[in-house]
Amino acid sequence: MNPANNPNINYKTLVRDSYNKCAQKYASSRQENANPELALLIDRLPENANILDIGCGGGVPVAKKLAEHGNVFGIDISQTMIALAQKNVPSGVFTCLDIMQAEFPESFF
Ligand SMILES: C[S@@+](CC[C@H](N)C(=O)[O-])C[C@H]1O[C@@H](n2cnc3c(N)ncnc32)[C@H](O)[C@@H]1O
Repeated sequence: MNPANNPNINYKTLVRDSYNKCAQKYASSRQENANPELALLIDRLPENANILDIGCGGGVPVAKKLAEHGNVFGIDISQTMIALAQKNVPSGVFTCLDIMQAEFPESFF
């Protein structure tokens, strides 16, 4: 059986619990090295943009950098990551949610 299709494993719970466990270490490891592709996105942002960061993790460096250029809304399935993100990026709006369950107003981002 393909391990990714094992009906006895709840993969979302596995991902969430794993990121809950490693959140602090993961976020620390991401403090530097902002993704180079971010500059391309930032160049294209309209003024006062609403920006969605799916799987925002601890908010560094991506959400933090984006928050300098607009209103950041971060979503993550790990509540520990969301708590870190809110601490690291106080101006952002962070929600603990499975992205597959999320609904947004049309054209909001
Ligand atoms: C590889 S980390 C990336 C974190 C951050 N964006 C960064 O650049 O460091 C992936 C993140 O996606 C989150 N994630 C995984 N599945 C998710 C889902 N279904 N809905 C929301 N977040 C999810 C994890 O909890 C984790 O924080």
